[in-house]
Amino acid sequence: MLKGKHIILGITGSIAAYKAAMLCRLLVKEGAEVRVVMTPLAKQFITPLTMATLSKHPILVEFFNPENGEWNSHVSLGEWADMMLIAPATANTLAKMATGIADNLLMTTYLSARAQVAVAPAMDLDMYAHVTTQQNLRTLAERGVAIIEPQDGELASGLVGKGRMAEPEEIVEQIKGLMAKKVDKTLSSKRYIVTAGATIEAIDPVRFITNHSSGKMGYAIAEELALRGAEVTLITGRTTLATPRGVKRVDVVSAEDMYNAAVEAWREADGGIMCAAVADYTPVAVADHKLKKSDDDMRIELKRTKDIAKELGASKEGRILVGFALETDNEAANAEDKLQRKNLDFVVLNSLRDKGAGFQGDTNKVTIIDRQGSTEHPLMSKREVASIIVDKIESINNR
Ligand code: C5P
Repeated sequence: MLKGKHIILGITGSIAAYKAAMLCRLLVKEGAEVRVVMTPLAKQFITPLTMATLSKHPILVEFFNPENGEWNSHVSLGEWADMMLIAPATANTLAKMATGIADNLLMTTYLSARAQVAVAPAMDLDMYAHVTTQQNLRTLAERGVAIIEPQDGELASGLVGKGRMAEPEEIVEQIKGLMAKKVDKTLSSKRYIVTAGATIEAIDPVRFITNHSSGKMGYAIAEELALRGAEVTLITGRTTLATPRGVKRVDVVSAEDMYNAAVEAWREADGGIMCAAVADYTPVAVADHKLKKSDDDMRIELKRTKDIAKELGASKEGRILVGFALETDNEAANAEDKLQRKNLDFVVLNSLRDKGAGFQGDTNKVTIIDRQGSTEHPLMSKREVASIIVDKIESINNR
């Protein structure tokens, strides 16, 4: 799959740079042609000689060769590449990528690259968890950079946590996956909103009501729509998931926040996929201080939230609207009722009775119900379910 592919391997100044040697070797073994660009600091961690030997090409570090003045053209390198992989990517390089600072050859190459860019972050756990780093990663993901997530484990500092660069074998697998995804941009003129994850309804400054939704199904759908070229706004409750590439992410907390964000985005949208597990009830009043316990029982009065899907369905004007249903009994009848009540094109039903379907897992077993009838699908990955759902959206578009 990587045979004959042109890959720029960017190496930055992290202790994980030693893994770049193995990574380079694996890429070359897969048949890729690899050109290595190192930041000046990366040379302190792994020698250019090692990388030149493994990649079979001279290493590029400076803008020009100081001995003969020969120019290292970042522009032609950017054009040459089928893929640009920065591994390890330090917090510093990620920040420069997010802001467009072009103070070394790797950064100017990044800014000139037309190919898919992937980064494998490597840093200490606190640097990785820092809000600035997370914001930069999110910005890059929204711009289409693939993030190869670091792993949890022992770090060079002796601390244990998330920040270890993914292993070279894993990075190569992900690069192959990215290369294979040459999906037709069949939705390139379309704009969709996807709601995903659980909302959080505050009781007081400390407690809240929520549910077990992981957001995985909605994120998979957003990713699939973006892969096919659509402009996607992902309105999401709290999750631990990374933003899919090329997707605009809007973070919300409560059902009310999600409603407001969805109504706003719906004005410009061609369709909506309502995947979020929105709270149906929220406390009537949010205490402004932590509620004290007493010896008595207590009651929290709840009021209904607004139904986002129903609201969008009421102003549908020929656009596509897809809903989800998670039922424990009377599944089919309830799903059909939702179809009518919320003015949906189809409902994706997952039953909690089915093993492997529903909340936290990576698989789902769904039945798709529309006005023509219902189609039951076998247990499959949420990515595959996303692909079936987006196929169906496309077939409705083409009607
Ligand atoms: O009525 P029920 O909550 O079972 O319907 C589920 C569907 O409606 C899902 O698609 C969910 O995202 C959507 N929904 C919504 N706003 C709510 C409740 C549900 O968009 N307040």
